[in-house]
Parts: sequence; C-alpha cells; structure tokens
Amino acid sequence: MTSDTPPSMGASRDRTSRLPGFYRLDRDERLATLVAEGALSPEDAERIGQTGVGLPFATADKMVENVVGCFELPLAIGTNLRVNGRDHLVPMVVEEPSVVAAVSHAAGIVRRSGGFEAEADRSVMTGQVQVVGLTDLDRASAAILGARDALLARANAAEPGMQRRGGGAIDLEVRRIGGGRYCRMLVVHLHIDACDAMGANLVNTMCEAIAPDIEALTEGTVVLRILSNLTDRRRVRARCRIPVEHLAWKSYSGDAVAEGIVRASEFAEVDPWRAATHNKGIMNGIDAAAIAVGQDWRAIEAGAHAWAARDGSYGPLAVWTRDEEGALVGTLDVPMAVGIVGGPIRLHPTVKTNLKMLDVASAGQLAEVLGSVGLAQNLAAIKALGTTGIQQGHMALHARSVAATAGACGDEVEQVASALVARGDIKVETAVRVLEEMRA
Ligand code: MEV
Repeated sequence: MTSDTPPSMGASRDRTSRLPGFYRLDRDERLATLVAEGALSPEDAERIGQTGVGLPFATADKMVENVVGCFELPLAIGTNLRVNGRDHLVPMVVEEPSVVAAVSHAAGIVRRSGGFEAEADRSVMTGQVQVVGLTDLDRASAAILGARDALLARANAAEPGMQRRGGGAIDLEVRRIGGGRYCRMLVVHLHIDACDAMGANLVNTMCEAIAPDIEALTEGTVVLRILSNLTDRRRVRARCRIPVEHLAWKSYSGDAVAEGIVRASEFAEVDPWRAATHNKGIMNGIDAAAIAVGQDWRAIEAGAHAWAARDGSYGPLAVWTRDEEGALVGTLDVPMAVGIVGGPIRLHPTVKTNLKMLDVASAGQLAEVLGSVGLAQNLAAIKALGTTGIQQGHMALHARSVAATAGACGDEVEQVASALVARGDIKVETAVRVLEEMRA
C-alpha cells in the first residue's frame, strides 16, 4: 500500500468549478463540458459515461471476497467549490436527491466571497496497543517510556518506506485506564505520520511489530493492536465568511437568512438529537465525495461522531456565528483520515478518474476539500431549514425519482415530475396516473 505514488494530477490550474446551467445539460453534454474544462480526458469521459462498465468484474473480484457482481449508484458532479483559492469539481456518489444540488448551491454562495479556507493537520494516525495482566502499572509505564526511541525504531523497521517519505512512527504515549469493574490496563498510543496514505494497514503493522517488545518490557500481556478511528491528530478545519447581502433568498432578506442559520447552529450546539441530524447533513457531502474517490467512509464517519462526542455530550461538527460586521461565519472541525495512494485507488478505474478530476495533490489537500464540502452541505441544509423548510426543494427533486419509479422515460421524467410538483402530490400512484394520461 505504502509503495504507491499519487495518481498524476491535472496540470492546468486555471480550471473553474463554476459551470452555470450544468444541471440542465444531458449526460453527453455534461461530459463534454468536463472534457472542455480539462477535468476529464476524452477516454475517461467515455468510460465513466457508460453504466455497467465502471468496475470490471475481474477487478471487483480481487477487491473483496465472494463477489457476484457490482452495485451501481449515481456519480454526479458538485460544482462551484473553491478551497484555498483553487477551484475543484467534486465527484459525488450518493443515492439521496438534493445532496449534489445543495452543495453546488451553497458553494456558489461562498465562492462570491472568495470560497472556503481550510487547513489539514499533518497525516498523523494513532495506533493502540492494549497491555493487561500488569501488577505494577507505574513500573510498566516507565519501562515503555524509557524504551521510547527503541520502540519507534522497531515500528519504523516494520514499514521502512515511510521514513524515506518523511513519515513513519513519530511519537508514543502511555495511557492508564480501567479500574472499578474493569481490568486495569495500559494503552500505548503509537503516533504515525501516514503521509499521503490513509494508513490503516501500516498503523496495524507497526502496532503488531512493537507488541512483543512491550510484553518483554512490562511482563504483561498484549491483547489488541489496532488503529483508533478517532484520528484527533489528523483533523481538518474549514471556514467561510459570507457577507449578509449574499444570503438574501426568495422573499427572505440576507439578515433573516443569517439569523435562521445561527439559530439552527445554536440548536445543534445545545441538543444532541438535533446535533445528530445537523452532522448527518455534513456527512451527506463528505461521504458522497469520499466514496467517489475511494476512501474508507466508515472510518471517516466513526472519527467524526467520536470527535463530536469528545466532551461527553454529542455536539455539532460545524457551527455558525456572525462577526462584528454582521457577516455569517461558518467553521467546521472534524477528523479526516484520507489518502490519495493505496486501497481502491490503485484498483478501481473510476476512483482513479475521480481523483484526477478532483485535482488534489496530497492527502491533506483532499481532507481540505472534503471538509469544505461538509461545511457547504451544512450551509445548504440549515439555510433551507431556517427559512422555507427543506421539503419544497427536496420534493421537487424527489419527484424525478418518483416519476422514474412510475415508469417515465426520457423527457417524460421532467414532465411527470413537474405535474406532480404542480399538484403538490408526489406519490408513485399519482405519477402512474399522470403518465397514463400523458401517454393517452
Ligand atoms: C437530510 O439528508 C439532511 C438534513 O436533515 C440535514 C439537517 O437537518 O441539517 C437536511
């Protein structure tokens, strides 16, 4: 895994993510636009434009066990995103209508004031080695800390390539936990810079490599040797500042929209039931983009929710306030263990293409884009929730999949969907009736 090099990134940086009217085009026109923008090569566009060929069976069969086929989901493009002064077209894989439209809408608002600023930490993953059966925890802890340099050297010897890349095991801590009805134990945290990899395998390898030394040093027994998905040393922070005049929407003044968003944020800050939904909206964007570029999105989810509960109660991953000039300021802070080498990136042809299209040069830059996508998704959701409510927008988009479920084809889909929205009755039975009337 660690011997891979990043996929080659698009050379041109005058690329824009602003594609007005993209959503009105048909598939071929969308792909042609992406080729014209330099986001896709003609060959990649031809391949990803076909369903059923994204992942050859022979490749899928090597990725996991007992493979019988491939499962497809829509691959769509989030537009308008600008992060740290660079535009990014965001490939997104998601089944839920409105996620892609919402992120593109919110990113369009934010780009008017320069886009998102984001900053990723160094790629530091944490592995855990659990030591039990100790009679003297102080002595065992001192023995481990006294052998710190030798243990780091042992860990690095297990993955020699990492130090050559400027990473590898860099630090070690000992935590004492348990007591009461729990077995008293030491937990060694091994901190490892995974560079451009997500790093799960190399962390586990290093933890296993130091386990015999730890047993010898402590005369205890090592049980678990595994990474922690609470990657709190590998977080991304994203921020945006939106002048209030950029928020005016429908009949709502910019000030009213900003107030709705701040009230929504306060709700999530004080109430875990709301925070769970607020964070689900953030993860709608992060997961969809993460899946498209081959990331372990369960790891990202686990880290996000553990971080959201770090103070003992569950809170929001993004908050919104107003500054002294009345502008709306959004900030997000979330663990983000992602990589641009290894895993499915090496195998899955569409993942490779998507990563090229996203045009990130490092794991940190990928984290910065994903964090910004999460913040944009949150903005779109609470902007709608704090004003009109989300059903109006959701149902208009949902109507298209209801029309398709009822059997509408081609142009019929938009016609049936419009009729359902006009009737305010977005149900499959109604869509079947509308379709029959139309065809008659
Ligand atoms: C729906 O998938 C996500 C939302 O519920 C998020 C939120 O309530 O903030 C709209």
